[in-house]
Amino acid sequence: MKLNSTNKPLRGSILIPGDKSISHRAVMFGSLAEGSTEITHFLDGADCLSTIDCFRKMGINIELSTDEKGEKKVLVHGKGIHGLQKPSARLDCGNSGTTTRLISGILSGQPFSTRLTGDASIQKRPMKRIMTPLTEMGASIVSERNNGCSPLRIEPSALHGITYHSPVASAQVKSCVLLAGLYADTATTVIEPALSRNHTELMLRSFGAELTSQGLSATIIPDPQLIGAAVQVPGDISSAAYFIAAALMVPGSELLLPNIGVNPTRDGMIEVVQKMGGSIQLLNERTSGGEASADLLIRHSSLHGCTIEGAMIPRLIDEIPIIAILASVAEGTTIIRNAEELKVKESNRLDIMVDSLSAMGVDIEGTEDGMIIHGGKPLHGAVIDSHLDHRIAMSFAIASLIAEGTTEILGAECVDISYPSFYADLAGVLL
Ligand code: S3P
Repeated sequence: MKLNSTNKPLRGSILIPGDKSISHRAVMFGSLAEGSTEITHFLDGADCLSTIDCFRKMGINIELSTDEKGEKKVLVHGKGIHGLQKPSARLDCGNSGTTTRLISGILSGQPFSTRLTGDASIQKRPMKRIMTPLTEMGASIVSERNNGCSPLRIEPSALHGITYHSPVASAQVKSCVLLAGLYADTATTVIEPALSRNHTELMLRSFGAELTSQGLSATIIPDPQLIGAAVQVPGDISSAAYFIAAALMVPGSELLLPNIGVNPTRDGMIEVVQKMGGSIQLLNERTSGGEASADLLIRHSSLHGCTIEGAMIPRLIDEIPIIAILASVAEGTTIIRNAEELKVKESNRLDIMVDSLSAMGVDIEGTEDGMIIHGGKPLHGAVIDSHLDHRIAMSFAIASLIAEGTTEILGAECVDISYPSFYADLAGVLL
């Protein structure tokens, strides 16, 4: 896809699609709950459709519909935590790390064996991080190629409660272990080095699980009765991030993004934007199912560099590619540290951001666990390989707005993973 800098401001409002993390969990926990779970503003991106496909293959009736306003709705007819059936084929998790890792925790507690697979990217992503704690709980989970990656084979096994000190701040690892804890003989605790997103804790609790959180630790009591509930999914702050950045960078812009999830374990980008001098207002703040949301009003601003590190990193882990674009136009230096997790996302996002921003003329250097960006020089168009990573494609589509000349994005269609209407939404606010 070829994109030209337009010099047009972004104006108006965008209804950002539903949160990916919450949409996945609503389908999974709805399947394990008794009764029905109605999910509104569901994200129908490819990743969440992979989750639906896996649970359908295990006998769960899941209805996906679109209402007259174009809103996606899902109705999950759950069968309780012991109601899943052995799938007749391998479960295909597509490109989705969340599907692969969370479902592995659930499958470890089932009385039947399963095999999991996924696309070329998922077959390279590290699964030892879940295999280690699951094995400690007594699970039987193996990497079929013995390389610590998917495809995985999971056999029935009795699970024991453990206290797991996770070496990474990862909500996927934490959620996997807590979900296996549903099937253990005693309580299971996960302690993280820094707090990762807590959607699993909030939603399982609202479905009736006995789950307590204290600081960096979360504990689940096994064998609860989960009851289906209505889930209103807020707009995904990780998707909103592209338009927040665009409005901040393009002169004359003013954009309203209604109903964005601002859970404090996810809102690091808002804090960083404010630290950089950006104008972002939270209006109409509210809470549903324990999840905070607000309408975001963003205006073009002149930005300055800042340092992003430590406990802030898990609060904005998926936003770092677009924050690097913001840092390229900000005056002064931005330092990002402690972000080595970016190397094991859908692509190696550290290397790709450094190489691609260099190609656009940005003064940027990669470090072992992050990057240093000396911002403020004009960007020029370049050919950018997305490596089929949705967040890389969207970040550079936004960079093209302020880069002189033409930017070509290879594999641009991969935005379908998390934001199928991304290019249409962008075109809709360029005046
Ligand atoms: C997610 C957790 C994060 C995030 C991913 C979604 C989740 O991954 O990057 O996009 O829904 O739990 P990690 O748990 O690997 O940090």
